[in-house]
Amino acid sequence: SYGLILALLFGYLLGSIPFGLLVTRAAGLGDVRKIGSGNIGATNVLRTGNKGLAVATLLLDALKGTAAVLIAARFGPDFGLWAGFGAFLGHLFPAWLGFKGGKGIATYLGVLIGLAWQVALIFAVVWLAVAFLFRYSSLAALVAAVVVPIALYFLSTPQIAGLFAVMSLIAIIKHRANISRLLAGTEGKIGAKG
Ligand code: G3P
Repeated sequence: SYGLILALLFGYLLGSIPFGLLVTRAAGLGDVRKIGSGNIGATNVLRTGNKGLAVATLLLDALKGTAAVLIAARFGPDFGLWAGFGAFLGHLFPAWLGFKGGKGIATYLGVLIGLAWQVALIFAVVWLAVAFLFRYSSLAALVAAVVVPIALYFLSTPQIAGLFAVMSLIAIIKHRANISRLLAGTEGKIGAKG
């Protein structure tokens, strides 16, 4: 229906706000796309050496996903789902940046908080455990992206599990350069400056 398309567009608009780019630019650090992995997410913002900005990027990129879901869900659960998908797509493919956006992990988590917060806790535990053990943000994201749809299959609705299976697939494809670096042993560890 038109309502669901509107929800998708609304989510897209919120999701396409590139907070990592905005906060680093506002802090006078230049263009975060020119350092490290070239990504606009919190992991790459951390490579500027500014932890506060990295945390702000993580929180804002997650919040836009949660906000999209919760605002749209006031019109019904399907609206929340489509707005969440829109926010994820907006982060990955923002029109304002020539459709070259981020890898979507913080926004994925934000949407998950809005749609199935219990599984967001599972995401957090898995991400933190892998990050603690191996020190690769990308590897932590990839493992969490595999675990979440499986957890949702058992703990949530088929629609939500299906949505996250699709979002995980897209996020994994967006990490293909990271996967190559992980296999080659050249991926940057968390917090190492780039
Ligand atoms: O969440 C993004 C992370 O998985 C990878 O970021 O900058 O290392 O490519 P980056």
